[in-house]
Amino acid sequence: MRVKTKDGVRDYRTVWFDEKINSLKMINQPLLPHRFDIVSLENYKETASAIKNMVVRGAGAIGATAAYGLAQGCLEYKGNDIDELWKHIEKVYETLKNTRPTAVDLINGMNYVKSKMEEGNSVREFKELSLEAAQKFADKQVEECKKIGNYGEKLIKDGSRILTHCNAGWLAFVDWGSATAPMYHAKRNGKDIFVFVDETRPRLQGARLTAWELSQESIEHDIIADNAAGYYMKNDEIDMVIVGADRVIGKTGDVANKIGTYEKAVLARENGIPFYVAIPMSTIDWNLKSGDEIPIEERDEKEVLYVWGIDDNGNRKRVMIANKDSHARNPAFDVTPAEYITGIITSKGVFKPDELIELKK
Ligand code: MRU
Repeated sequence: MRVKTKDGVRDYRTVWFDEKINSLKMINQPLLPHRFDIVSLENYKETASAIKNMVVRGAGAIGATAAYGLAQGCLEYKGNDIDELWKHIEKVYETLKNTRPTAVDLINGMNYVKSKMEEGNSVREFKELSLEAAQKFADKQVEECKKIGNYGEKLIKDGSRILTHCNAGWLAFVDWGSATAPMYHAKRNGKDIFVFVDETRPRLQGARLTAWELSQESIEHDIIADNAAGYYMKNDEIDMVIVGADRVIGKTGDVANKIGTYEKAVLARENGIPFYVAIPMSTIDWNLKSGDEIPIEERDEKEVLYVWGIDDNGNRKRVMIANKDSHARNPAFDVTPAEYITGIITSKGVFKPDELIELKK
């Protein structure tokens, strides 16, 4: 995606690997939109912490980060013993897996790298294959997101007013994004669109990240408070909803996405507004039987009780916004049952939730 910098417009990926120094580079997302900065992670433990602390976030981006992290851990191994290397790989895998539970891309990314490594016969080959596979996983995601953009754009009419929730944009993936790719394609193809951006409490991925991304692409938008979407839907100001997902159940089409998605889907149906979910294949879980089985991450109550921002002098600060003695609850995701979803936009076309299973075949 294009980033407007003071030296002109530059193209960036959200995460990439410098194999010469075995270092993973990524955009430091908690600092956006006030500061654009790149962080370097020098070993797999630092990479795992970056996922846990949401320096990188968004299903696709953490999937690619975990894939690179597994390769990074493999390259860190200094010995020449195959059994010892695989024990080490299991440790790296578990460390990365225990960072965030809901987005299945994280597991799918690492499983892909592991399956490709199994084609090797020596420590040297395992290392080469791991990095090659991580790179391929990231590149494939970029290609898939472009295709999601092509299919999704066909659903967007000239003049459409679109609601999105959280950030399933370029920053939630390696490039392009899932929910935003159709919008970027529509804009670049000359369609006039307007985006309502849910601010997305408590971490404000909509207000901070999606709004910033849309600005980079010069797409007209307004940030709205999370509880304002129903008002605009009822007043006929929203034509369609497009969101991303952290895990979609392949057998049913149930969707786990950022907390608040479920209520937007129910409101959309009540108001006769189409509700689309955009995903690459790595977001599909073919194993679980229903959305009720998806593990939902509970995060620190401080994310609800405090907010980060900058003051008038540009200094980044955290301030308390809640009553001092009160506690908070903070589920990071919810599950929208398939019945509320009009279509799932994938790299292979747009499917009804109960048609997804066709893709498995
Ligand atoms: O907690 P996050 O920021 O990692 O959550 C992910 C999200 O931004 C959303 O749920 C998004 O809509 C799907 S990620 C492609």
